[in-house]
Amino acid sequence: MLVNFNEMLQEAKKNKYAIPHFNINNLEWTKYILEEMQELNLPVILGVSEGAKKYMGGFYTVRLLVEGLIKDLNITIPVCLHLDHGSSFESCKEAIDAGFSSVMIDASKYDLETNKKITSQVVNYAHPKGVSVEAEVGHVGGTEDNVYGDIFRATLEDCLEISKTNIDALAPALGSVHGLYKGKPNLDFERMKEINEALPIPLVLHGGTGIPYDMIKKAISCGISKININTELQVTWHNAVVKFIKENETVYDPRKVISSGEKAMKEKIKELVTVFNPKLLSSKK
Ligand code: 13P
Repeated sequence: MLVNFNEMLQEAKKNKYAIPHFNINNLEWTKYILEEMQELNLPVILGVSEGAKKYMGGFYTVRLLVEGLIKDLNITIPVCLHLDHGSSFESCKEAIDAGFSSVMIDASKYDLETNKKITSQVVNYAHPKGVSVEAEVGHVGGTEDNVYGDIFRATLEDCLEISKTNIDALAPALGSVHGLYKGKPNLDFERMKEINEALPIPLVLHGGTGIPYDMIKKAISCGISKININTELQVTWHNAVVKFIKENETVYDPRKVISSGEKAMKEKIKELVTVFNPKLLSSKK
């Protein structure tokens, strides 16, 4: 059964670790992530962007795919199926109606009042159905699904305002970017800490790819409870598949080609989760 992210994120916030949000793109990625997280016996959030939804056919297909894998693979860990960067109320509603257990409404491109209005609308639709809601203030920079945006840092005042909509988690943009960083990331840890101390809800770090592990640990100590990873798994998978194709030019079976990235992806998932949550991992093993 799919769950919303409330319990897993509240636990993470209380005990100062982070839950991974891994973006999924297809059957194989979903399977590898579920299998590895089950092996580690830790909860996971599967993020689906609007681009990935379109690629896979639609929200309904994605929900059935995830539920089917949970059943067939005997997955018993908590799994949250989450719309990543929902761009409108309609998109969030469509995901909720298709059975997603969580949504992000990203109205950060609008002014704060409009952001609050759209976010409230989503919360009012989601909460009676038990669906959790994440919102964003400021703007995470970089490129996602081929859309580029600049960084606008969130202020404490904006965070306090958006939290009045009753959201369950907040992604305050504090210098991280989607995709690969040019140079070292410049995260505003002071403000992260300040926002965490002022708000009871868990905080989310977008653009987790390429942030050095010591900075990830610092972000967790400043109150980050959910870390979004997309590009890192793409690059890891791609490197392994390119190597396989170069060494096996005559292999055309798609199952062999696609799954040549499985081992590397699973190793990367374990490595990241160990950084996000070293204590819990050692106690579970
Ligand atoms: P990266 O692609 O930089 O890992 O960012 C993922 C993300 O924030 C998804 O919302």
